[in-house]
Amino acid sequence: MSRLDVRKAVIPAAGLGTRFLPATKASPKEMLPLVDKPLIQYAVEEAVASGIEDIIIVTGRGKRAIEDHFDRSVELEENLKGNGKAQLLSQMRHISTLANFCYVRQTEALGLGHAVLCAQRLIGDEPFAVILGDEIIDAPVPGLAQLIHAFKKRQGAILGVQEVPHHEVNRYGIVSPKTISPGVHRVEGLIEKPTPAEAPSNLAVIGRYVLPPEIFSILRKTRPGKNGEIQLTDALRELAKKSPMYALEIQGQRYDAGDKLGFLIATVEFALKNPSLGPEFGEYLQDRMRPTEGRRMTRSKKAQSRHTRKT
Ligand code: G1P
Repeated sequence: MSRLDVRKAVIPAAGLGTRFLPATKASPKEMLPLVDKPLIQYAVEEAVASGIEDIIIVTGRGKRAIEDHFDRSVELEENLKGNGKAQLLSQMRHISTLANFCYVRQTEALGLGHAVLCAQRLIGDEPFAVILGDEIIDAPVPGLAQLIHAFKKRQGAILGVQEVPHHEVNRYGIVSPKTISPGVHRVEGLIEKPTPAEAPSNLAVIGRYVLPPEIFSILRKTRPGKNGEIQLTDALRELAKKSPMYALEIQGQRYDAGDKLGFLIATVEFALKNPSLGPEFGEYLQDRMRPTEGRRMTRSKKAQSRHTRKT
């Protein structure tokens, strides 16, 4: 194994999901479905499609459903087999074979930096990826694969970024960039959730990182920052002072599914792309946008009345 192989990914999943209460009162926000797949499965599939073999999920109280999701469900499999649902059966089996899954508990919600630190023992002394499952990236080349490719070339920590509107910089870690080539920047500094006036740019970290193991010793010394949490961004700022760090503008459509509006937009887009739902859902949306009197009874409208009728 070379020092440039990235085989492990950390997916922090211990957050309380307060933005989605009450849906997340007793079930993990990571299990909210985009159409028919939980958010965290998109993150896992992106990691696997990027060459990751080991997935370390940092969980907390009330997150058992995540472990069950990536485990086999023998009863369900028996049932699907008995009912001749072969395709669904193979899809269900596939989920548990996507990667080697390991779980580590973050006993207190002390921030993203702390969550990553919890994975130290399982990462050891090799570079690793971090994927934040709230951010969904829909791209022909998976977002993380783009980063890993750049990591091998640059040989320094690398952060996935995209431009965001200036008034939204206070929702992200923002980098201070020195452009090296189109879409690639040397990171000269970074700041967590700055005000628009404080922000050094509008290049936001979009929840994809490839990091060297040296980040752990820095994280151990990082004090609580923004919102009283141990911020990964603060540790990265220290790392950038010691060794080269880069930001790569990730090519692809990003959805911030950690936010209600972003989640709804992602749901609509993924539903429209879904081969078995998309055409009828598209018709429904088009019809829905017409003024009431102009609405036609399209197939989707009929489908809607079928679905809203009492059974
Ligand atoms: C986290 C990071 C932030 C990053 C963002 C991407 O913030 O702290 O630097 O830009 O994810 O989604 P959170 O959204 O968890 O508050």
